Amino acid sequence: RRSYEYIEVSEPRPGVGQITLNRPKALNALCTPLITELNTALHTFQTTPTIAAIILTGSARAFAAGADIKEMAPLSFSTAYTTAFIESWSDLTTSLKKPLIAAVSGHALGGGCELALMADILYCTATANFGQPEIKLGTVPGAGGSQRLTRAVGKSRAMELILTGKSFSGVEAERWGVAARVFDSHEALMEGALQTAETIAGYSRVAVQAAKEVVNKSQDLGLRDGVEYERRVFHALFGSQDQKIGMRAFAEKKKAEWSHE
Ligand code: CAA
Repeated sequence: RRSYEYIEVSEPRPGVGQITLNRPKALNALCTPLITELNTALHTFQTTPTIAAIILTGSARAFAAGADIKEMAPLSFSTAYTTAFIESWSDLTTSLKKPLIAAVSGHALGGGCELALMADILYCTATANFGQPEIKLGTVPGAGGSQRLTRAVGKSRAMELILTGKSFSGVEAERWGVAARVFDSHEALMEGALQTAETIAGYSRVAVQAAKEVVNKSQDLGLRDGVEYERRVFHALFGSQDQKIGMRAFAEKKKAEWSHE
């Protein structure tokens, strides 16, 4: 296995890959080498056939305190523009086909909040500290926060959060639909994330990938095109073995033994 400087990689349960951000001295600030490692680890899980679901987490104190302010401070417009600074972060959302669960404890600020919002499912602790404080640094969110947070919480609330830089708690995140579930402790959070990942890993890989694909299309397409897209994928799955296996198992009152084909 490859060794990393800023992240840890493990397989805590069958079919489940976990990436733990591990740059404690900087509260997991997302410097470029960390993002490069994260993309490499995600790509490795994507291409490992035994891995079916992925968890992304940090420490109890910090998921990630944002992009690395010390790295960004001296950047010029031309350097940021010509090196497409931050653009590689979205490799996460564009090339990863397997479900990604973000398990957020502690600070998830700026780019940390945006990274969590890129996940397919977001779980957090009640005391998690989310926010887009870029305005306080004289800038704006740069990793999709103005778009994904607005889709998640609506315009007025997103405007308030981004214009004031005020943070919001894990309890609020769950109430507003940013998080799917909220937990009382970091331990309970990790157990909840692992159980969900295991549940997903127990299904047909083909159906799981298709499910992720159709839900994500809802973020890009209008309703009519989205429903049509979904129906095309639904029809296509009648060409899979697992659709036959799953429906036959139901009729025979047996547990489906997926072929993943
Ligand atoms: N970048 C670089 N270093 C950071 C950092 C960041 N985003 N966040 C924390 N650190 C470093 C601190 O500089 C400090 O390092 P030193 O010990 O060398 O001084 C160390 O991590 C611990 O941090 P604090 O001493 O500040 O810890 P705290 O518990 O007192 O405060 C905090 C925690 C409230 C999260 C505070 O660290 C903080 O406000 N961090 C910055 C949050 C922020 O503004 N994030 C947005 C960044 S901009 C962005 O992300 C752009 C984008 O959209 C892509």
